[in-house]
Amino acid sequence: MTLYKKQCLSCHAADLSGRVGPSLQEIGSKMSEQQLINTVQDGSKGMPAFKKVLRADEIETLAHWLSTHTQAEGDDQ
Ligand code: HEC
Repeated sequence: MTLYKKQCLSCHAADLSGRVGPSLQEIGSKMSEQQLINTVQDGSKGMPAFKKVLRADEIETLAHWLSTHTQAEGDDQ
């Protein structure tokens, strides 16, 4: 997932296990796709807002990809 590697990897790690930001390995079982879109668009606390960095369709692609991560196991990038 190129978008993830470019924009998110530095804080959430290549395998989604987290670094500055929390692990996203099971995010699909915590947040809906719409909640993921909102979080990436608007950010929260230490999480930057991406609405000026990424297009809406890019944010949707990322949110959909993240929503498929429902349990911690091998990484599928
Ligand atoms: C500068 C570091 C940084 C970058 C870059 C970053 N994040 Fe985050 N992210 C964070 C931090 C810190 C939090 C925790 C925010 C909080 O506690 O409210 C977070 C939280 C999140 C959450 C909510 C996690 C949860 O369990 O509530 C999601 C989803 C998320 N980030 C996705 C992304 C995506 C997708 C990208 C790339 C487009 C990204 N982040 C880029 C730092 C970052």
